[in-house]
Amino acid sequence: MNKKTRTIFIGNQKGGVGKTSAVFEIGYILSTRGYKTLLIDADAQRNLTSGSGIDVNTKKNIYMAINGVVGFDEAIVNIRPNLDLLPGASQMTADHFATGEGTFALREAIEVITDVLHYDYDFILIDVGPGGGQLMNMALVAADYLITVATLTKYAYEGVEMMCADLERGRKNYVGFKVKPLGILINTFKKTAESDWRQECFEELTKVYNADMFPMQLGICSLMDQCKEECMSFTEYATHARKSNNAYFKLAAQYQELVDEIVARIENAEKEAK
Ligand SMILES: Nc1ncnc2c1ncn2[C@@H]1O[C@H](COP(=O)(O)OP(=O)(O)O)[C@@H](O)[C@H]1O
Ligand SMILES: [Mg+2]
Repeated sequence: MNKKTRTIFIGNQKGGVGKTSAVFEIGYILSTRGYKTLLIDADAQRNLTSGSGIDVNTKKNIYMAINGVVGFDEAIVNIRPNLDLLPGASQMTADHFATGEGTFALREAIEVITDVLHYDYDFILIDVGPGGGQLMNMALVAADYLITVATLTKYAYEGVEMMCADLERGRKNYVGFKVKPLGILINTFKKTAESDWRQECFEELTKVYNADMFPMQLGICSLMDQCKEECMSFTEYATHARKSNNAYFKLAAQYQELVDEIVARIENAEKEAK
């Protein structure tokens, strides 16, 4: 890949579908492949920050940096080789960014990080909290690419439907709105009586969403929760703890394939845009 920063928003207004886990895992895997990666925690719940082992009450956080109280270079912390984090803040809620100007706060933050401070990230991954609204708009306006995480459930499906509407609105309303959907990722996949039918609903929705489903569906593995206690990524934890089991191997391999596919889809999109 040529040198350039790609900003990816990993979203769905539905909570609990695995967005934060995916941001950490995808970011970690990208960093191990030599890509310089920044994770942005734009969720007031700050799960990405605590999951990285960083104090959630730090004043050197995204909100203070956006408001110029601290520099972005003071707030950004290195958490692994090639992997940085911009810690979250409890003020990352819609009411703190309610103005039209607020919509562009995240885009401007990224411009300062890359163009003014000259951080040479290959990837920036954005995590926002559940609920949609202004924070979701801010992330859509800031991003080059969108990955939508969902589970094969009614509510997650409705979240993706709402995201399609947000994309449509964004294209109409915001100058420089450029986000390109990369795909819908099914997490905690389990074959049930209804899963095939729900899967078909999602396939149908991709016509409006405008990108295919990711072919690898992430399975369920209980280590995913245990690794959070240790502030590690899933890949890292299972390697350290040597708690390998079939569910682990399967999910770890699916995540690696997913990252291959994400990089391939971005390369494709960039070729098509030329
Ligand atoms: N593939 C998976 N297997 C098992 N548990 C998972 C998996 N993905 C996520 N989880 C768990 O589901 C919960 C919600 O995940 P999280 O990433 O916080 O979702 P969100 O950011 O969408 O709210 C967490 O406890 C997480 O550990
Ligand atoms: Mg989350």
